[in-house]
Amino acid sequence: MNLQTARGTFDILPEDQPRYRALYSAAERVLSSAGVQEIATPVFEYTDVFTKSVGASSDLVVQKEMYTFDKGERSLTLRPEFTAGVLRAYIQNGLSSRRSPVKLWSKGPVFRAERPQRGRFHQFHQVNCELLGLDTPLIDAEAVALLYATLRECGLQELRVKLGSVGDPEDRERYNDYLRDELRAADLSETSQERLRLNPMRILDSKDEKDLEVIRDLKRPLDFLNEDARAHFEAVKGYLEAWNIPFDVDDSIVRGLDYYRRTAFEVHHGSIGAQSALCGGGRYDGLVESMGGPPAPGVGWAFGAERVLDAMSEEGVALPDAPRPALFLVPMDEDAVGEVARTALRLRPTFWVEHAYTKRNPGKGLKEADRAGARYAALRGPKERQEGVYGVKHLASGEQTQVPEEELEAFLKAHA
Ligand code: HAM
Repeated sequence: MNLQTARGTFDILPEDQPRYRALYSAAERVLSSAGVQEIATPVFEYTDVFTKSVGASSDLVVQKEMYTFDKGERSLTLRPEFTAGVLRAYIQNGLSSRRSPVKLWSKGPVFRAERPQRGRFHQFHQVNCELLGLDTPLIDAEAVALLYATLRECGLQELRVKLGSVGDPEDRERYNDYLRDELRAADLSETSQERLRLNPMRILDSKDEKDLEVIRDLKRPLDFLNEDARAHFEAVKGYLEAWNIPFDVDDSIVRGLDYYRRTAFEVHHGSIGAQSALCGGGRYDGLVESMGGPPAPGVGWAFGAERVLDAMSEEGVALPDAPRPALFLVPMDEDAVGEVARTALRLRPTFWVEHAYTKRNPGKGLKEADRAGARYAALRGPKERQEGVYGVKHLASGEQTQVPEEELEAFLKAHA
C-alpha cells in the first residue's frame, strides 16, 4: 500500500499558493489588457479530441504519454495540453462567429506520463494562450509579444526567445524526405531511429551526443521554406524587431507536437538549462478544420507554471507579502467564546478575522494571535463585556487601546 502522492505529482501547500497566485495574476493582467479572455475547459475530454489534434507522430502519442482510461462506452483522456480542448470548445460553441481574432487564455493542471526528472512532472500547470481566426504574421508577433510581456510581468529578466519556422506541410514533407535520405545509414539512437520512421524532423530535438554529431552538418527546416512561408517568417521577425522584443533565430526549432505550421517559438531561461523550455508555441493553421471546424487559422503558446516559478526563484524575484489576518479575537471566559465568533462573522469578509475557539488567558491568547500573523489582537472578558468594548493591541508595537464593539469595523478600516 502506498498512501503518498503519486510519482511525478506534488502538493501545493498553503505557503506556496501565493507564488501561483502571483503568476496567474501577472498573466491575467497582461492578457486581459490585450483583450484575451479566460476560458476553462474540462480536465478530461474524449480521447479523440487529443489524438485528432496532437498528431500521430507527437511524443504524446509515440511515447504513450497520455493518461487514457475507459469509463462507459468511450475512451477518455486527461488533457496533456490545452490547445486541443480550447479548439474543441471554439468549434463546439461557435466562437468562430465572434470578431476575429478570438483571443483565449486558460490556466490549470495538465497531465503527461513522461519520465519524471527535474522540472518534468506527471501533473503540472500551464498558462495557455490561443489567438484564433487570422493568419497575418502580425498575430504571430503579437503572440510572442504577449508571451514576452507576461514573463516580464512575472519579474523575469533572463529570457531567451527562440524563433523559427517549421514551414508548411509540403516543406516539412520535403525536409523529412531529405532527412530520410541523409540518415538512412546513420548510426542513430533508438529514439531517433523511431523518429526517422515517423517524423524525421524531430531528430533535431535529440539530446543524444552521437545523434548530435550525426545531424550537425545537415540542412535545417529553415532551408526548406517555400516563398510564402519565408515571407511570413521575415514579416514576424520584422514586427518583433520593430517592437524591440529580443529574439534569436533558431533554424532547427522542432516541436514535440505535430500541429505546427510556419512560426514556431520557445522561450528559455538562463537558469533552467538549454534543454528545457519555459514555454513553447507556434502557428497551427489547418488544425481547427482537421477537428471538424470552419477554416480558422491560429497561433498560441503555453508555459509551464512550475518552470516559470523555478526561474523566478533563481532570479530572486520578490513575491508580494503573504496576506495576514487583520485581527485575532481572544475570548477570556466561556461567554466570550460565542461573542468573539459572532464579532468575527460580522467583520468578515471585509477583514480577515480569526479567533481562538476556547477561552484563553491574555498571555496565551496574544501569543496565539502573534503566531497567526495578525496585525491586531482584541481581548474580550467580563470587564470588556460590561463596558461593551474590546481590548485591542497592536502586536508589532504593543500599543493598546479600548475600542467599542460597534466601532471595531471603523477602527480596522482606519488602521489595518
Ligand atoms: P509544450 O511545449 O508541449 O506546448 O508545453 C509547453 C510548456 O509546458 C513547456 O515549455 C514546459 O514549460 C511545460 N511542460 C511541458 N511538459 C512538462 C512536464 N512534464 N512538466 C513540467 N512542465 C512541462 C504545448 O503544450 C502547446 N499546447 C503550446 C501551444 C499552445 N501551442 C499552441 N498553442
